[in-house]
Amino acid sequence: MRVDVITIFPDFFAPLELSLIGKARATGVLDLSVHDLRTWTSDVHRTVDDTPYGGGPGMVMRPEPWGQALDAVGDGTLVVPSPVGKPFTQADAHELATLDHLIFACGRYEGIDQRVIDDAASRMPVREISLGDYVLFGGEVAVIVIMEAVTRLLPGVLGNASSLDEESHAAGLLEAPMYTKPASWRDHDVPDILRSGDHGRIARWRRDQSLLRTAARRPDMMAAYPPASLDKADRKT
Ligand code: ADE
Repeated sequence: MRVDVITIFPDFFAPLELSLIGKARATGVLDLSVHDLRTWTSDVHRTVDDTPYGGGPGMVMRPEPWGQALDAVGDGTLVVPSPVGKPFTQADAHELATLDHLIFACGRYEGIDQRVIDDAASRMPVREISLGDYVLFGGEVAVIVIMEAVTRLLPGVLGNASSLDEESHAAGLLEAPMYTKPASWRDHDVPDILRSGDHGRIARWRRDQSLLRTAARRPDMMAAYPPASLDKADRKT
């Protein structure tokens, strides 16, 4: 997958050298380039923003540098993180992971002039994505989050791909609690059943925990869970 990130803060993306994203880059699964938007300014101050038409507080990113930057990186799917975007989900991560070329446009201040998005949408798919109902300083951190969610779904990135099937959100439920050694720690014991070796009962226990957790923490997810996916034992839980 090819990824171009356009930002006024390229240094924000240093963490993408690390860990499994770094490895995906080193092995060639991910071809990531980070571009400084100011490369495409022409004035001495390398200006990227200006006051909003219609008035109001804050500044808006001017369209000209963005137009040139997007022309330079070529067409793909443009992702614009924004608090006015569609909420990001695991399903979106899966969809983005199938694409060959993602372009991330990191807005700052009060956002990017709307014409940049409208102009790009006339030649490529554009997705405005929100991480949640809160406001960040800019899109940079959101891009790192989206990149993590997408990169781990690319073939060959996770050592054990079956872990993708069981994790939270894969099947529309939250995952059950997990434990490792030691069996007893600070007077807290690992549930006996997990040490029983009875795979059938362990699977049942995990499923019950998953349902209880989801119902308690995410009633919205529980309500959306297809009743046809519930078996008889689930209904008792
Ligand atoms: N930029 C600013 N706030 C944001 C949010 N909540 N999600 C994505 N991008 C943003």
